[in-house]
Amino acid sequence: MGHGGQAIVLIGFMGAGKSSLGRRLEKSTGFPRFDTDEMIAAKFGLSVPRIFEVHGEDFFRDAESEALRQLDSSAPSIIVTGGGIVLRTTHRELLRQLGTVVYLQADEATLFERLSRKASRPLLRTDDPRATMKQLLERRLPLYEEIADLRVDTSQLSHDEVCDLVLQNIAAPKHD
Ligand code: S3P
Repeated sequence: MGHGGQAIVLIGFMGAGKSSLGRRLEKSTGFPRFDTDEMIAAKFGLSVPRIFEVHGEDFFRDAESEALRQLDSSAPSIIVTGGGIVLRTTHRELLRQLGTVVYLQADEATLFERLSRKASRPLLRTDDPRATMKQLLERRLPLYEEIADLRVDTSQLSHDEVCDLVLQNIAAPKHD
């Protein structure tokens, strides 16, 4: 806590609800929203799955580094990130500096159910997506935990409930 940045930073696994919460928070706070996946897609003129296909994961992670460095946290904003952004130590440091880190959680079954509805996650395009998901989760959960200021389990909540909960919990000023 207390890293000085003014942003509300959303982290969590694919399917945790970061993108839709980001849009809701943008509406209810009026703060500008920045989404690292959108920034990267716009920069290269390609969708995120296409960037993975053409350039690979390391290239995408480098693009995430650049996107994070471009973000300015001196004024309030909403920052939405991709599920794998926490993999690099430098990213975790940058995320903490940006502001209050909100970790959106959901149980494994809920995540899998949400992810099964869409084919837009390049990392889950494997023969056994469920097993892949489990492996990714095992590696990443401690990394989300490491930088979380606030945790919200979205498994049983509506989008509006999640939004209200986050706003209530960050309304209290951060203490250094
Ligand atoms: C990724 C998550 C995606 C996107 C890319 C890689 C990951 O974002 O950044 O497909 O490594 O978990 P979402 O978390 O919004 O799906």
